[in-house]
Amino acid sequence: MSSTTSIFETMKRGGPGAVFQRLRNGAIARFHYFFDARFDRRHGIETSQGRDLEDLDIDSPNKALGVEYAPTPVTLLPLMLRAMKVDPARETFVDLGCGKGRVMVKAAEFGFRKLVGVEFAPELAETARDNLKAALRDKSDIDWDVRQEDVVGFQPPESDLCVFAYNPFNGSVFEAALDILAAHAARGWNVNFIYYNPQSQSLVEAHPAFEPVSKSASLNAALALASWHGAALYRVRAGEAEAS
Ligand SMILES: C[S@@+](CC[C@H](N)C(=O)[O-])C[C@H]1O[C@@H](n2cnc3c(N)ncnc32)[C@H](O)[C@@H]1O
Repeated sequence: MSSTTSIFETMKRGGPGAVFQRLRNGAIARFHYFFDARFDRRHGIETSQGRDLEDLDIDSPNKALGVEYAPTPVTLLPLMLRAMKVDPARETFVDLGCGKGRVMVKAAEFGFRKLVGVEFAPELAETARDNLKAALRDKSDIDWDVRQEDVVGFQPPESDLCVFAYNPFNGSVFEAALDILAAHAARGWNVNFIYYNPQSQSLVEAHPAFEPVSKSASLNAALALASWHGAALYRVRAGEAEAS
């Protein structure tokens, strides 16, 4: 079926709203394809192809609550970091469910000098390590670590944190991750939390330690114009969780 016919089909089935949505989605996909492919080429890495968790050798009872690998568009991360008013000189950047490491490389470009990725799929963790080695080969001052583990066993580094999560897992696994961050804040560390595509936002809002942060006008505009997903920003309060 040609794309012209498909547009007519879309119009017939869903009306002008569906046609608009289809054109918008196509334009967003082309925009990100261009910048993401350029990012991969520039660093000599591959982070763009998605991976289904079914095809990966994951030894965890939490596989069923995990979300498949899909990367965050490179143009959106700096906007979220700026809106969160992060301090890259002081905070360690953490990507929960880091996949192939794209977001860690981008965070290093943004100015973070300490980066930790947590990924339970061995193949993805290995790819992330290869990608970070290649992309940061001339940056000996950057300290990075990709931990191949389930997030429920994550022990944050002794540092203030900027934690990023692109809809990586759901339900009890997500709640366990929130508790780990709250316990870290209760030990006196500052913890910022950026949640892209916040499918489990209700769990964060129900957690007493997580305080919403308003998004900047520029982030709201970018998400409305150039993203299929929203984002939510939080500061994790000290004193709302038992330090463990
Ligand atoms: C939507 S992808 C996000 C990838 C990357 N953070 C990015 O934004 O480009 C979610 C990732 O979370 C990982 N994941 C899912 N459940 C996990 C768990 N319980 N522990 C660690 N990683 C997990 C998946 O393997 C996948 O790579």
